Amino acid sequence: MDKDALKKIISHSKEYGFIFPSSEIYEGLNAIYDYAHNGVLLKNNIREYWWKSMIQLNENIVGIDSAIFMHPKTWVASGHVDAFNDPLIDNKDSKKRYRADVLIEEYIEKLNSKVQKEISKAEKRFKEKFDKKQFTETNPRVLEITKSIEDVKGKMILAFENDDLPAVKKLIDDLEIKCPISGTCNWTEVRQFNLMFNTKLGASEDSSMDLYLRPETAQGIFLNYLSIQKTSRMKIPFGIAQTGKAFRNEIVARQFIFRMREFEQMEMQFFIQPGTQEDCFNQWKKKRLDWHLNLGIKPNSFRYHDHDKLAHYADAACDIEFLFPFGFRELEGIHSRTDFDLKSHEKLSGKKIQYFDPVLDKNYTPYVVETSIGLDRMFLAILSNSLKNEILKDGSSRTVMSIPRPLAPNKLAFLPLLKKDGLPEYTRKIMRDFIHDINIVYDEKDAIGRRYRRQDAIGTPYCITIDHQTIEDDTFTIRDRDSMEQRRIKLSELKTIVDSELILKSLLKKLDN
Ligand code: GAP
Repeated sequence: MDKDALKKIISHSKEYGFIFPSSEIYEGLNAIYDYAHNGVLLKNNIREYWWKSMIQLNENIVGIDSAIFMHPKTWVASGHVDAFNDPLIDNKDSKKRYRADVLIEEYIEKLNSKVQKEISKAEKRFKEKFDKKQFTETNPRVLEITKSIEDVKGKMILAFENDDLPAVKKLIDDLEIKCPISGTCNWTEVRQFNLMFNTKLGASEDSSMDLYLRPETAQGIFLNYLSIQKTSRMKIPFGIAQTGKAFRNEIVARQFIFRMREFEQMEMQFFIQPGTQEDCFNQWKKKRLDWHLNLGIKPNSFRYHDHDKLAHYADAACDIEFLFPFGFRELEGIHSRTDFDLKSHEKLSGKKIQYFDPVLDKNYTPYVVETSIGLDRMFLAILSNSLKNEILKDGSSRTVMSIPRPLAPNKLAFLPLLKKDGLPEYTRKIMRDFIHDINIVYDEKDAIGRRYRRQDAIGTPYCITIDHQTIEDDTFTIRDRDSMEQRRIKLSELKTIVDSELILKSLLKKLDN
C-alpha cells in the first residue's frame, strides 16, 4: 500500500474543494473539518443512499430526527456517564497525550509485524516447499514472539476488565513502551477520561442545567421508540433510522476524518422479540455488507471482525472493517444491544415503555439490533477507494477519482468546445434538461484536455462536449471518466444514461434485486 496515500487524499480533498481543516485562518482546530462544495455533494449522496436504502426499501423502517441535546439522565441510563471513558496517559517530557490501550495495541502490532517478517523471509528461502502452518507452529523465533503477544494481550485484557489502571501503567513500564515524540518512558499514571463534551442549558448559574452533546444518535431513537411505533403503526419487528451529528472528545484524534471530535452517524435500531436476536443480527450483518458491495468496491476491501470483548450493552457485536490507507479499520458496527437501553431508561425515568405485542397478546421490552456507521468514515472509505494516479499510454499521467457513479458530486460536465459561435448558449440550453434531476457543471475555460482532467479529479462520470455539429444535428461527444473513451450520441441517449447509471435510483434498484 502507498504509504503516502492518506497524505495525497488530504491534499487532494483541500485542493479540489472536498474537505478543509476548520477555522484555518486561526491555525485550525484539531480533528474538526469543514466540507466544501464537492465534499458536501458527495456527503449528501452517501447519506441519501443510506437513508433511502433503509426507509424506502423497507416498509418496516421509519425515520426520526431527534435533538442533539437530551435530558442529562439519558446518559446516566445509557451508561455513558460511568463507562464512556478512554484510559489516558501523558508523557511528561513531550507533554503529549495518548490512549494507554492504543499504546499497548501498537506494541502488539509491532510484534505481529515481526512474525510476518519471519514468515516472509522463510517464504523466500523455501519457495514452493514453504508450509506456513508448519512454520508458524514450529519455528522457535516465531513461537517466542507469539508467546509474548499472548502474554501482553492477556495482561492487558485482565487489567481493563478489572478496571485496574495501575496494572495498565505497570504493563506500559514493563514493556518499556516509549513516547514516539520524546523517545522516553517518563509516563504519568493512567486515568480514565470521559469522552462526552458538556455544556450548560439556561442563562443563570443557579438555574442552569448541565448537559452533554450526544456521543451517539441512538439514544434519541430509544427515548422516542414507543411514540414512533404508535404514530407510525409499526409492529415488531420494525426499525427506526436516524442520521445526525455526534460529538466525542477523542484523546487521540488522528488520520484525517477517520476519528473526529464532531462527526455524523447513520444509525438504525431494529426492535425485535427477545430470543430472535441471533437471526436478526446475522441478517443485518449480511444486509449491511451487501450495501457496501453494491457500490462496486472490491470485496477484499471489506472484512468482518466479530468482537470477543463486548460493550456493556451488547450480547454480540461485529465490525465491518474497510481497508483504509492505514490498514483494516472499523467502518461500521452491528450490535445486538439486548434490552439494556430500554430497560435502563424505564428504570431511571419510572415510565413504562414496554411494547404491546398484539400477536402474542402481551407486553414486553423489545430487544434491539443496531447498525451504526460514521458518514465521515464512509466518505473516507469512498475517497480511499477512488483516488488514483494513472500513467497513460502516451506516458503522461492523470489523477482520477473513480467515485461510484451515482454518488459522484457532479454527474455531468458540459463543455462548449469554443467560447463563441453560439456554443455556450446552446450548451446552457441543453443543460436545462438535466438541472432538475442531477448536479451538473459548466466549464468553458482552458483547452478541452485540461477541462477533462479537472473533471477526472473531482470524479465527474461523464464530460459532454458541444461543438458546431451539435447545433446542426443535436449530437455531442460523451467522454467516460474511467475508460476515457469518447463517442457521439444523441440527447435522448444521454437521458437514458442518466437514468440507468447516474441517479441514485439505479443503485437502489441493484440493491433491491
Ligand atoms: N451507537 C453505537 C455507536 O455509536 P460506535 O462503534 O461507537 O457505536 C459507530 O460508533 C460508528 O460511528 C463507527 O463504526 C464509526 O464509523 C463512527 N465513529 C465513531 N467514532 C467516530 C469518530 N470519532 N469520528 C468519526 N467516526 C466515528
